[in-house]
Amino acid sequence: MSTLGKREPRSKRGRLFKGTTIDVGMNFLVTPGGALHGEVEVPGDKSISHRALILSALAEGPSEVTGLLEGDDVLATARALGRVGVKIDITEGERCRVQGLGLTGLTPPTATLDFGNSGTGFRLLSAVLAGQPFSSTLTGDHSLRKRPMTRIIDPLTLMGATINSGKGGYPPLNIFGRYPLSSIEYELPIASAQTKSAVLLAGLNANGVTRVREPAQTRDHTENMLIGFGCPVEVSDGVISVCGGARLSGRMFSIPRDFSSAAFFLVGALIGPESELTLPGVGVNPTRTGALDILRLMGADIQIMNHRNVAGEPVADLKVVACRLKGVDVPSALVALAIDEFPVLAIAAACADGKTSITGVRELRVKESDRIRSIVDGLRALAIDVEEYSDGMTITGGRFSGGKVDSCGDHRIAMAFALAGSVSRGPVRVMDCGLVQTSFPGFSDVARKAGLRLEVESS
Ligand code: S3P
Repeated sequence: MSTLGKREPRSKRGRLFKGTTIDVGMNFLVTPGGALHGEVEVPGDKSISHRALILSALAEGPSEVTGLLEGDDVLATARALGRVGVKIDITEGERCRVQGLGLTGLTPPTATLDFGNSGTGFRLLSAVLAGQPFSSTLTGDHSLRKRPMTRIIDPLTLMGATINSGKGGYPPLNIFGRYPLSSIEYELPIASAQTKSAVLLAGLNANGVTRVREPAQTRDHTENMLIGFGCPVEVSDGVISVCGGARLSGRMFSIPRDFSSAAFFLVGALIGPESELTLPGVGVNPTRTGALDILRLMGADIQIMNHRNVAGEPVADLKVVACRLKGVDVPSALVALAIDEFPVLAIAAACADGKTSITGVRELRVKESDRIRSIVDGLRALAIDVEEYSDGMTITGGRFSGGKVDSCGDHRIAMAFALAGSVSRGPVRVMDCGLVQTSFPGFSDVARKAGLRLEVESS
């Protein structure tokens, strides 16, 4: 067992806990031809893992979590919680114990909180810290320091916290917390689960009822999990309400496998001739599975089997068989429900017959990279015809050439283009894939086991 904050350095840690190749500081070289077969077990859900740690920390008494994603993003959240006094033990096998301190039990941080690449950890914990009677400084890596934080600074300031940011509202943030905060009724200017969750989490330490209206449904894991921890949440007509001061009680629960990680293999199997894969125990919360609907519109054959409920989240086994896809206009109603899957949906679109039009996805420009740019550049590097707009792109189906793709240090771009290499005319080299570790440790091993001809080269 290891207590976070006193863990081995990263390279040793990966080997100690996973027994897998460590995808750090490297490129992927994929040679065409590997059909995908068998069963693929993807790691735990990233969004749910962050929330599990944060809510367990704010609960009273111990919680035990199984299936936690041990990716760098989640570990950064765990370390940050450690710095505000929370004891978290992670044992081998993704089992984790958190000693909750209650809503007001956190202690002033011993140092700057570094969230690495993780927007979710940064935004959610900013909100928690805004409601504490002490100040904190939060920062992140090169990519995170270019991601907009005004979306959380505005509501948290309205609630009574004082927040200083870098120029333009970028990290680092100095948060001068206040307890209690004032509750607000807040209309989100953009559909963002992170912002919605930030306001709800701040609302736990506010006087009265905090209400958030979202312009489109986004992932509802925070709401589900708050209810699971015994905190009443009301949802009505796109408005979510929480009552300040409600107590959370520690609990045991397990985290489903990550649909967003499964999506790479769903698309990989769809485009790979004669591929057939099963992905057991994947989270299929409908606020996350817009990509399933989009792929089905494109003609995909994906079966959802053994649908069940695990700790308040729907879970199922997915079975996918290769088939010809056709281009579609992605319905705007599905955009927020598929927001993290556009890199791999673009790979599906590039293999489909006809044109696929993706619009209304301006948010992709402020993800771990400018994903519209990174997708467009990657597709063009592999000789796919794509037109770029400020808020999307139109992709004309074709055949990937071989070539070199820059992942732009973005985990989802790296994994999406690795799958493209299985059906290209020549080898595809994806550069700078180290940050795959943030969401899918051991990706290269899992992909190779499924049949992808992937080699890891140090960069
Ligand atoms: C997430 C919400 C989404 C998503 C991100 C994880 C979450 O971001 O892109 O990867 O866990 O709440 P936005 O809230 O910015 O849309």
